[in-house]
Amino acid sequence: MHISKLQLFNFKNHESLNLELIPGVNILTGNNGVGKTNCLDAVHCLSNGKSYFTSLDSQLIKHGQDFFTIKAAVGNAIDTQDTTEILLQFDKGKKTIKKNGKNYPRLSDHIGFIQTVMITPYDIELVLGNSDERRRFMDLLISQLNTEYLHHLMVYRKAVEQRNSLLKAWSGRNMDDDLLESFDQKLIPSATLIHQIRYSITQEIIPIFKRIYAALASTDELVEINYSSPLHENAMQDLLKLNRSNDLFAERTTAGPHKDDWVFELQGNPLRKFGSQGQIKSFVIALKIAQYRFFQEKLGKTPILLLDDIFEKIDESRAQRLMELVESEGFGQILITDTHPERVEKHLSQLNGEHNHRSVG
Ligand SMILES: Nc1ncnc2c1ncn2[C@@H]1O[C@H](COP(=O)(O)OP(=O)(O)OP(=O)(O)O)[C@@H](O)[C@H]1O
Ligand SMILES: [Mg+2]
Repeated sequence: MHISKLQLFNFKNHESLNLELIPGVNILTGNNGVGKTNCLDAVHCLSNGKSYFTSLDSQLIKHGQDFFTIKAAVGNAIDTQDTTEILLQFDKGKKTIKKNGKNYPRLSDHIGFIQTVMITPYDIELVLGNSDERRRFMDLLISQLNTEYLHHLMVYRKAVEQRNSLLKAWSGRNMDDDLLESFDQKLIPSATLIHQIRYSITQEIIPIFKRIYAALASTDELVEINYSSPLHENAMQDLLKLNRSNDLFAERTTAGPHKDDWVFELQGNPLRKFGSQGQIKSFVIALKIAQYRFFQEKLGKTPILLLDDIFEKIDESRAQRLMELVESEGFGQILITDTHPERVEKHLSQLNGEHNHRSVG
């Protein structure tokens, strides 16, 4: 599956933009601020129904306008005659997605039709930011593969919220143990399942990630992802008991999967403290490409790869190996943005595939 035509109206800085794309590697170049990243975000919107950068759709409308549309012709790699038109529109606060002119009953029915994996310079937050960022990535990755997971995540969040309200409501009084126990029971099954699924997915993705990092870095740098969770040692029931006095004091649930983390390591040290900018970027790229491979393996679909300013901060040899990697077997459509056309050309000219060069702005 690939996008053969992308048309934007009033989307961010683009009043009207038409891009013809090929199924392989597409390079979008132009100076700072012409709207290259915005083009990738438009593809992300078509895939996920929302921007990569904001959950406020109104921010996506070109300043001074009152609606935007993103239209795409989606081609089928096997049957080239078979194209699907997808139209995403945001008008008067309402978002609709049409497939071949027909509205979806629910927006969520469209999700999964086009898969994307985006890598942007903002992703270093995954390493440098707090654990919320990593849980968000973990949750998004797993929910796309496992709908049961998303359900448990929602049940768990709600149960924690209710338990926190209870703890607050009893502030300064002696808690009714039976009452608290009944609230505990509501979050135990989903907490246990979330932990199990996170554990097994982490175990599956680690070897894929390590293989890709090694191919990209071509050094013997040791990388590791450790899933950290107090649920490795204690069942949720026991964890709640152990933390009961803390929770009563803090008036919130202090332990549970909502505090889980992925600890990234380089040569046995925390990446966020000891990684260079290029090493951190390489780590993130390898993690995202592992996500791409994982989706492909599990869902049997080839996502569109969106590479935003991918060559910034990584050295020439890593950039070259990255291009070799994405040109190898099994990668589908790729959109790459860069301010230096020569830089991308240099890396791609050493490879065989067909490339499409588009200048934005
Ligand atoms: N809703 C909007 N209306 C108008 N302009 C917007 C809107 N949202 C973002 N922009 C503008 O779009 C411009 C282009 O942004 P974008 O990040 O796509 O540029 P870019 O080509 O990727 O630049 P760089 O090379 O610096 O990464 C920015 O100047 C930004 O202010
Ligand atoms: Mg950009």
